[in-house]
Amino acid sequence: MKAAVLNAFGSPLAIETVPDPQLGTGEVIVDVMASRVLAYANEVLSGARKYLLEPPVVPGPGAIGRISAAGPDATRLRPGDWVYCDPTVRSRDNALSPDIALQGLTAGSEGGLHLQRYFHDGAWAEQMRVPTENAVPIGDIDEKDAARWCALGTLLVPYGGFLAGQLQAGEIALVNGATGSFGSAAVAVALGMGAQCVVATGRNEQALAELTRRFGGRVRTVPMGGDEADDRARILQAAPGPVDCVLDILPPAANAVQVRTAILAVRPYGRVVLMGGVGAGLDLPYSWMMRNCITLRGQWMYPPHAAVLMAGLIRSGQVDLDQFEIATFHLDRANEAVAHAAAHSGPFKMTVIEPRSGRPAG
Ligand SMILES: NC(=O)c1ccc[n+]([C@@H]2O[C@H](COP(=O)([O-])OP(=O)(O)OC[C@H]3O[C@@H](n4cnc5c(N)ncnc54)[C@H](OP(=O)(O)O)[C@@H]3O)[C@@H](O)[C@H]2O)c1
Repeated sequence: MKAAVLNAFGSPLAIETVPDPQLGTGEVIVDVMASRVLAYANEVLSGARKYLLEPPVVPGPGAIGRISAAGPDATRLRPGDWVYCDPTVRSRDNALSPDIALQGLTAGSEGGLHLQRYFHDGAWAEQMRVPTENAVPIGDIDEKDAARWCALGTLLVPYGGFLAGQLQAGEIALVNGATGSFGSAAVAVALGMGAQCVVATGRNEQALAELTRRFGGRVRTVPMGGDEADDRARILQAAPGPVDCVLDILPPAANAVQVRTAILAVRPYGRVVLMGGVGAGLDLPYSWMMRNCITLRGQWMYPPHAAVLMAGLIRSGQVDLDQFEIATFHLDRANEAVAHAAAHSGPFKMTVIEPRSGRPAG
């Protein structure tokens, strides 16, 4: 089969013919129809991000595809079924604390790296092999919509956060870092989950205004100026009531004070989920957390069942895939796709590789 191969960090992807993946027990082979390209894929492939990924490797985290073959332990999946290939591969030999590898992207630990050496290759290929439980059925879709359904990969990240934060319909959510790719998706997800209102923070006022244009009055935007007390006062003023759940998804480059500003806006007994990447300096007041019974939760990715529920939110119209503006590239143009993704990042923008476009079905 044809694949885009990273032979060494910093070298361009080579479009090569590689052996077809071989099916084992507990695995499925998927015909890859579409795979998202992260805005920072260029930094992963150059080695700048120092992700735990070992070339030579076929990159590509997650895909929309069709089952080509299922192992003997698959009780429901059939060839032809449309699935979301969840890149979140969990080790099966520790139910309490599984190691995680993001197939085709990185590993969370040494244990995750061990796992990744087996589930090594990602989705930028005509086929990929994934653990059976990572091929999540999404129901029938039109082939032309496969690229659009890749938005699952973006939407599921904040959905995992709100599931961890137990966001209930009718509550008020705060998304800290709402102008980014995952942050803007978090706004769409919270609304889709039935939030009464989403308070959306960011520095980019144009991007904040765009959120209001898209979603209307259920989104209240707060431009962050950098003064902790002032920013928090404006958050509390914008919210129509106490903030029940805070989701932080600011990147490592952001300042920890920006994160604390949002965290301390949560109501007593409220929940805070940390999904971004800021470094030192959070410096949370212990007694405030203790006396207000605050729940503080970190979350990486999302639980295995999240993709099933998100597919339901999409099919019911609660989350609208048409929000996304999509650019598609054939596998032969994988390097162009990576460059395009970097140059066209931002809210509701998505770059997708379609490895099998132009091929006859089956
Ligand atoms: N936990 C998980 O499972 C998970 C999964 C995927 C990604 N992530 C993390 O999610 C985070 C956001 O990813 P993304 O792709 O959405 O990021 P992004 O689009 O690059 O940035 C998000 C927003 O952060 C703000 N920002 C950027 N640089 C900043 C700076 N120097 N100071 C203050 N604010 C800054 C910007 O908004 P303004 O300019 O409007 O302030 C930007 O729109 C990353 O840390 C990523 O690693 C977590």
